Amino acid sequence: MSQNSAKKYLLGVIGGGVMARAIVCGAAKKGVFAPQEVCVCEPDNAKRAAFESEGYSTTENARFLADNCAYLLISVKPQAFCEVAEALRGARLPVLVSIMAGKTKRAVLSALGVEAKIARVMPNLPCSVGEGMAGVDACGLSQAEKAFVLGLFSAVGKAVEVPESLLDAVTGVSGSGPAYVYLFLQSLVKAGMEQGLDEEQAKTLALQTVKGGAAYAEESGKSYEELIAAVSSKGGTTLAALASFDRDDFAGAVSRAVDAAVKRAKELSE
Ligand SMILES: NC(=O)c1ccc[n+]([C@@H]2O[C@H](COP(=O)([O-])OP(=O)(O)OC[C@H]3O[C@@H](n4cnc5c(N)ncnc54)[C@H](OP(=O)(O)O)[C@@H]3O)[C@@H](O)[C@H]2O)c1
Repeated sequence: MSQNSAKKYLLGVIGGGVMARAIVCGAAKKGVFAPQEVCVCEPDNAKRAAFESEGYSTTENARFLADNCAYLLISVKPQAFCEVAEALRGARLPVLVSIMAGKTKRAVLSALGVEAKIARVMPNLPCSVGEGMAGVDACGLSQAEKAFVLGLFSAVGKAVEVPESLLDAVTGVSGSGPAYVYLFLQSLVKAGMEQGLDEEQAKTLALQTVKGGAAYAEESGKSYEELIAAVSSKGGTTLAALASFDRDDFAGAVSRAVDAAVKRAKELSE
Protein backbone atom coordinates (compact mmCIF):
# COMPACT_ATOMS: atom_id res chain seq x y z
CA MET A 1 0.00 0.00 0.00
CA SER A 2 1.40 3.39 -1.00
CA GLN A 3 0.58 5.34 2.18
CA ASN A 4 -1.37 5.17 5.40
CA SER A 5 -0.85 1.44 5.79
CA ALA A 6 -2.84 1.51 9.08
CA LYS A 7 -6.00 1.37 6.96
CA LYS A 8 -7.07 -1.59 4.88
CA TYR A 9 -7.58 0.52 1.74
CA LEU A 10 -5.88 3.67 0.54
CA LEU A 11 -9.02 4.93 -1.19
CA GLY A 12 -12.71 4.32 -0.64
CA VAL A 13 -15.21 5.50 -3.21
CA ILE A 14 -18.87 6.16 -2.52
CA GLY A 15 -20.77 6.05 -5.81
CA GLY A 16 -19.16 4.00 -8.58
CA GLY A 17 -20.70 5.94 -11.51
CA VAL A 18 -19.27 7.64 -14.58
CA MET A 19 -16.95 10.13 -12.87
CA ALA A 20 -15.66 7.77 -10.17
CA ARG A 21 -14.90 5.11 -12.77
CA ALA A 22 -13.02 7.60 -14.95
CA ILE A 23 -10.98 9.01 -12.05
CA VAL A 24 -10.22 5.75 -10.23
CA CYS A 25 -9.49 3.59 -13.29
CA GLY A 26 -7.51 6.43 -14.93
CA ALA A 27 -5.38 6.95 -11.81
CA ALA A 28 -4.81 3.20 -11.40
CA LYS A 29 -3.71 2.99 -15.03
CA LYS A 30 -1.16 5.74 -14.32
CA GLY A 31 0.16 3.82 -11.29
CA VAL A 32 -1.15 6.20 -8.59
CA PHE A 33 -2.35 3.06 -6.77
CA ALA A 34 -3.17 -0.55 -7.50
CA PRO A 35 -6.83 -1.61 -7.84
CA GLN A 36 -6.32 -3.75 -4.71
CA GLU A 37 -5.85 -0.52 -2.72
CA VAL A 38 -9.32 0.74 -3.62
CA CYS A 39 -12.78 -0.25 -2.42
CA VAL A 40 -15.92 1.04 -4.15
CA CYS A 41 -19.32 1.37 -2.48
CA GLU A 42 -22.05 1.14 -5.09
CA PRO A 43 -25.65 -0.19 -4.97
CA ASP A 44 -25.75 -1.37 -8.59
CA ASN A 45 -24.70 -5.04 -9.02
CA ALA A 46 -23.47 -4.62 -12.59
CA LYS A 47 -21.28 -1.63 -11.69
CA ARG A 48 -19.81 -3.48 -8.71
CA ALA A 49 -19.12 -6.53 -10.89
CA ALA A 50 -17.33 -4.34 -13.44
CA PHE A 51 -15.02 -2.94 -10.74
CA GLU A 52 -14.43 -6.41 -9.26
CA SER A 53 -13.47 -7.81 -12.66
CA GLU A 54 -10.65 -5.24 -12.73
CA GLY A 55 -9.32 -6.14 -9.29
CA TYR A 56 -11.10 -3.51 -7.15
CA SER A 57 -12.88 -4.46 -3.91
CA THR A 58 -16.52 -3.44 -3.61
CA THR A 59 -19.13 -3.10 -0.91
CA GLU A 60 -22.66 -1.85 -0.43
CA ASN A 61 -21.77 -0.54 3.02
CA ALA A 62 -20.57 3.08 3.08
CA ARG A 63 -19.81 2.86 6.80
CA PHE A 64 -17.31 0.04 6.10
CA LEU A 65 -15.37 2.45 3.90
CA ALA A 66 -15.30 5.18 6.54
CA ASP A 67 -13.67 2.73 8.93
CA ASN A 68 -11.25 1.12 6.49
CA CYS A 69 -9.95 3.79 4.08
CA ALA A 70 -7.37 6.57 4.35
CA TYR A 71 -9.25 8.72 1.80
CA LEU A 72 -12.91 8.71 0.88
CA LEU A 73 -14.01 9.98 -2.54
CA ILE A 74 -17.65 11.05 -2.49
CA SER A 75 -18.95 10.78 -6.03
CA VAL A 76 -22.69 10.29 -5.69
CA LYS A 77 -25.10 12.82 -7.24
CA PRO A 78 -25.67 15.72 -4.82
CA GLN A 79 -29.32 14.66 -4.34
CA ALA A 80 -28.20 11.16 -3.22
CA PHE A 81 -25.87 12.57 -0.58
CA CYS A 82 -28.53 12.67 2.20
CA GLU A 83 -28.68 8.88 2.17
CA VAL A 84 -24.87 8.63 2.27
CA ALA A 85 -24.68 11.18 5.11
CA GLU A 86 -27.21 9.11 7.05
CA ALA A 87 -25.08 5.97 6.60
CA LEU A 88 -21.90 7.80 7.68
CA ARG A 89 -23.41 9.84 10.52
CA GLY A 90 -21.20 9.82 13.61
CA ALA A 91 -18.43 7.75 11.95
CA ARG A 92 -14.78 8.66 12.48
CA LEU A 93 -14.10 9.90 8.96
CA PRO A 94 -10.97 9.61 6.84
CA VAL A 95 -9.88 12.50 4.59
CA LEU A 96 -12.90 13.31 2.42
CA VAL A 97 -12.68 14.27 -1.25
CA SER A 98 -15.98 15.52 -2.61
CA ILE A 99 -16.65 16.04 -6.30
CA MET A 100 -20.36 16.77 -5.80
CA ALA A 101 -21.36 19.85 -7.79
CA GLY A 102 -22.81 22.66 -5.70
CA LYS A 103 -22.13 21.11 -2.28
CA THR A 104 -19.90 23.29 -0.14
CA LYS A 105 -17.47 21.71 2.29
CA ARG A 106 -19.49 23.22 5.13
CA ALA A 107 -22.73 21.69 3.78
CA VAL A 108 -21.11 18.25 3.47
CA LEU A 109 -19.68 18.35 6.98
CA SER A 110 -22.87 19.71 8.49
CA ALA A 111 -24.91 16.88 6.88
CA LEU A 112 -22.39 14.38 8.29
CA GLY A 113 -22.58 16.01 11.70
CA VAL A 114 -18.84 15.67 12.35
CA GLU A 115 -15.64 17.56 11.71
CA ALA A 116 -13.29 15.99 9.18
CA LYS A 117 -10.59 17.00 6.76
CA ILE A 118 -12.17 17.64 3.39
CA ALA A 119 -11.05 18.60 -0.10
CA ARG A 120 -13.58 19.84 -2.63
CA VAL A 121 -12.91 19.24 -6.29
CA MET A 122 -14.67 20.28 -9.49
CA PRO A 123 -13.53 17.88 -12.22
CA ASN A 124 -14.92 17.59 -15.74
CA LEU A 125 -16.03 14.83 -18.08
CA PRO A 126 -12.88 14.57 -20.26
CA CYS A 127 -11.14 12.95 -17.27
CA SER A 128 -12.71 9.84 -18.85
CA VAL A 129 -10.02 10.05 -21.56
CA GLY A 130 -7.21 11.37 -19.35
CA GLU A 131 -7.77 14.97 -20.51
CA GLY A 132 -9.79 16.28 -17.58
CA MET A 133 -9.49 19.64 -15.85
CA ALA A 134 -10.07 19.87 -12.12
CA GLY A 135 -10.18 22.80 -9.71
CA VAL A 136 -9.08 21.61 -6.26
CA ASP A 137 -9.59 23.25 -2.89
CA ALA A 138 -7.46 21.19 -0.52
CA CYS A 139 -6.74 23.82 2.13
CA GLY A 140 -6.63 22.33 5.59
CA LEU A 141 -5.07 19.07 4.36
CA SER A 142 -1.45 18.17 5.16
CA GLN A 143 1.14 18.42 2.36
CA ALA A 144 1.02 14.62 1.86
CA GLU A 145 -2.79 14.57 1.77
CA LYS A 146 -2.87 17.50 -0.66
CA ALA A 147 -0.30 15.74 -2.85
CA PHE A 148 -2.49 12.62 -2.93
CA VAL A 149 -5.60 14.58 -3.99
CA LEU A 150 -3.73 16.60 -6.61
CA GLY A 151 -2.03 13.42 -7.85
CA LEU A 152 -5.37 11.67 -8.20
CA PHE A 153 -6.79 14.34 -10.48
CA SER A 154 -3.51 15.10 -12.28
CA ALA A 155 -3.45 11.44 -13.31
CA VAL A 156 -6.57 12.02 -15.41
CA GLY A 157 -5.73 15.46 -16.77
CA LYS A 158 -4.71 18.69 -15.08
CA ALA A 159 -5.47 19.96 -11.60
CA VAL A 160 -5.17 23.53 -10.31
CA GLU A 161 -5.50 24.60 -6.70
CA VAL A 162 -8.11 27.29 -6.05
CA PRO A 163 -9.83 28.49 -2.89
CA GLU A 164 -13.37 27.18 -2.44
CA SER A 165 -14.70 30.68 -3.20
CA LEU A 166 -13.50 30.23 -6.81
CA LEU A 167 -14.90 26.76 -7.42
CA ASP A 168 -18.11 28.23 -8.88
CA ALA A 169 -15.93 30.10 -11.41
CA VAL A 170 -14.14 26.81 -12.17
CA THR A 171 -17.57 25.23 -12.69
CA GLY A 172 -18.51 28.01 -15.13
CA VAL A 173 -15.30 27.67 -17.15
CA SER A 174 -14.14 24.04 -17.12
CA GLY A 175 -16.85 22.07 -15.25
CA SER A 176 -19.61 23.01 -17.68
CA GLY A 177 -17.06 23.99 -20.35
CA PRO A 178 -17.01 20.72 -22.32
CA ALA A 179 -20.66 21.39 -23.23
CA TYR A 180 -19.67 24.79 -24.69
CA VAL A 181 -17.06 23.05 -26.83
CA TYR A 182 -19.64 20.51 -28.02
CA LEU A 183 -22.09 23.32 -28.84
CA PHE A 184 -19.40 25.08 -30.87
CA LEU A 185 -18.55 21.82 -32.66
CA GLN A 186 -22.22 21.14 -33.37
CA SER A 187 -22.66 24.64 -34.79
CA LEU A 188 -19.50 24.35 -36.93
CA VAL A 189 -20.64 20.98 -38.32
CA LYS A 190 -24.08 22.43 -39.15
CA ALA A 191 -22.49 25.45 -40.83
CA GLY A 192 -20.20 23.15 -42.84
CA MET A 193 -23.16 21.08 -44.01
CA GLU A 194 -24.99 24.26 -45.05
CA GLN A 195 -21.96 24.91 -47.29
CA GLY A 196 -22.34 21.51 -49.02
CA LEU A 197 -20.08 19.20 -46.96
CA ASP A 198 -21.56 15.87 -45.93
CA GLU A 199 -21.97 15.19 -42.20
CA GLU A 200 -18.92 12.92 -41.89
CA GLN A 201 -16.69 15.39 -43.68
CA ALA A 202 -17.99 18.32 -41.61
CA LYS A 203 -17.54 16.39 -38.34
CA THR A 204 -13.96 15.41 -39.20
CA LEU A 205 -13.06 18.96 -40.24
CA ALA A 206 -14.64 20.53 -37.14
CA LEU A 207 -13.32 18.07 -34.54
CA GLN A 208 -9.77 18.00 -35.87
CA THR A 209 -9.76 21.81 -36.09
CA VAL A 210 -10.74 22.16 -32.42
CA LYS A 211 -8.24 19.46 -31.35
CA GLY A 212 -5.45 20.86 -33.52
CA GLY A 213 -6.22 24.46 -32.53
CA ALA A 214 -6.03 23.59 -28.82
CA ALA A 215 -2.88 21.48 -29.25
CA TYR A 216 -1.10 24.27 -31.18
CA ALA A 217 -2.16 26.90 -28.63
CA GLU A 218 -0.73 24.76 -25.83
CA GLU A 219 2.47 23.76 -27.60
CA SER A 220 3.36 27.11 -29.14
CA GLY A 221 2.72 29.06 -25.93
CA LYS A 222 1.64 32.03 -28.09
CA SER A 223 -0.97 34.53 -26.90
CA TYR A 224 -4.48 34.25 -28.34
CA GLU A 225 -3.90 37.56 -30.19
CA GLU A 226 -0.77 36.08 -31.84
CA LEU A 227 -2.58 32.84 -32.66
CA ILE A 228 -5.52 34.67 -34.25
CA ALA A 229 -3.10 36.89 -36.21
CA ALA A 230 -1.27 33.77 -37.45
CA VAL A 231 -4.50 32.50 -39.09
CA SER A 232 -5.55 35.91 -40.46
CA SER A 233 -4.28 37.85 -43.44
CA LYS A 234 -5.34 41.34 -44.39
CA GLY A 235 -8.53 41.27 -46.45
CA GLY A 236 -8.71 37.48 -46.08
CA THR A 237 -11.33 34.90 -45.13
CA THR A 238 -10.56 34.58 -41.39
CA LEU A 239 -10.90 38.31 -40.80
CA ALA A 240 -14.26 38.25 -42.60
CA ALA A 241 -15.45 35.51 -40.23
CA LEU A 242 -14.00 37.23 -37.15
CA ALA A 243 -15.71 40.51 -38.07
CA SER A 244 -19.00 38.60 -38.27
CA PHE A 245 -18.38 37.04 -34.81
CA ASP A 246 -17.60 40.52 -33.50
CA ARG A 247 -20.84 41.99 -34.86
CA ASP A 248 -22.69 39.15 -33.07
CA ASP A 249 -20.77 39.89 -29.84
CA PHE A 250 -19.34 36.36 -29.58
CA ALA A 251 -17.10 37.32 -26.62
CA GLY A 252 -20.10 38.86 -24.84
CA ALA A 253 -22.18 35.73 -25.45
CA VAL A 254 -19.44 33.54 -23.91
CA SER A 255 -19.09 35.87 -20.95
CA ARG A 256 -22.85 35.90 -20.31
CA ALA A 257 -23.03 32.10 -20.58
CA VAL A 258 -20.21 31.61 -18.04
CA ASP A 259 -21.86 34.18 -15.76
CA ALA A 260 -25.17 32.25 -15.99
CA ALA A 261 -23.39 28.98 -15.07
CA VAL A 262 -21.59 30.60 -12.13
CA LYS A 263 -24.83 32.18 -10.85
CA ARG A 264 -26.59 28.81 -11.10
CA ALA A 265 -23.70 27.10 -9.27
CA LYS A 266 -24.06 29.67 -6.46
CA GLU A 267 -27.84 29.14 -6.30
CA LEU A 268 -27.34 25.36 -6.09
CA SER A 269 -24.88 25.67 -3.22
CA GLU A 270 -27.15 27.89 -1.12
N1 LIG B 1 -20.61 14.25 -14.93
C1 LIG B 1 -19.91 15.36 -14.90
O1 LIG B 1 -19.54 15.97 -15.91
C2 LIG B 1 -19.49 15.93 -13.56
C3 LIG B 1 -18.60 17.01 -13.51
C4 LIG B 1 -18.22 17.50 -12.26
C5 LIG B 1 -18.72 16.95 -11.09
N2 LIG B 1 -19.60 15.91 -11.18
C6 LIG B 1 -20.12 15.35 -9.94
O2 LIG B 1 -19.72 14.01 -9.85
C7 LIG B 1 -20.65 13.28 -9.08
C8 LIG B 1 -20.95 11.96 -9.78
O3 LIG B 1 -21.48 12.23 -11.05
P1 LIG B 1 -21.61 11.07 -12.13
O4 LIG B 1 -21.87 11.76 -13.43
O5 LIG B 1 -20.48 10.11 -11.99
O6 LIG B 1 -22.99 10.38 -11.61
P2 LIG B 1 -23.45 8.86 -11.74
O7 LIG B 1 -22.87 8.22 -12.95
O8 LIG B 1 -24.93 8.84 -11.53
O9 LIG B 1 -22.74 8.17 -10.47
C9 LIG B 1 -23.25 8.20 -9.17
C10 LIG B 1 -23.25 6.77 -8.65
O10 LIG B 1 -23.60 6.79 -7.28
C11 LIG B 1 -24.42 5.64 -7.04
N3 LIG B 1 -25.19 5.84 -5.80
C12 LIG B 1 -26.42 6.38 -5.64
N4 LIG B 1 -26.76 6.36 -4.33
C13 LIG B 1 -25.72 5.79 -3.65
C14 LIG B 1 -25.46 5.48 -2.29
N5 LIG B 1 -26.36 5.79 -1.33
N6 LIG B 1 -24.29 4.90 -1.96
C15 LIG B 1 -23.39 4.59 -2.90
N7 LIG B 1 -23.57 4.87 -4.22
C16 LIG B 1 -24.71 5.45 -4.60
C17 LIG B 1 -25.29 5.57 -8.27
O11 LIG B 1 -25.85 4.29 -8.38
P3 LIG B 1 -27.25 4.13 -9.18
O12 LIG B 1 -26.99 4.58 -10.58
O13 LIG B 1 -27.56 2.67 -9.06
O14 LIG B 1 -28.23 5.03 -8.46
C18 LIG B 1 -24.26 5.86 -9.37
O15 LIG B 1 -23.61 4.68 -9.79
C19 LIG B 1 -21.89 14.16 -8.92
O16 LIG B 1 -21.97 14.64 -7.60
C20 LIG B 1 -21.66 15.31 -9.88
O17 LIG B 1 -22.17 16.53 -9.36
C21 LIG B 1 -19.99 15.38 -12.38
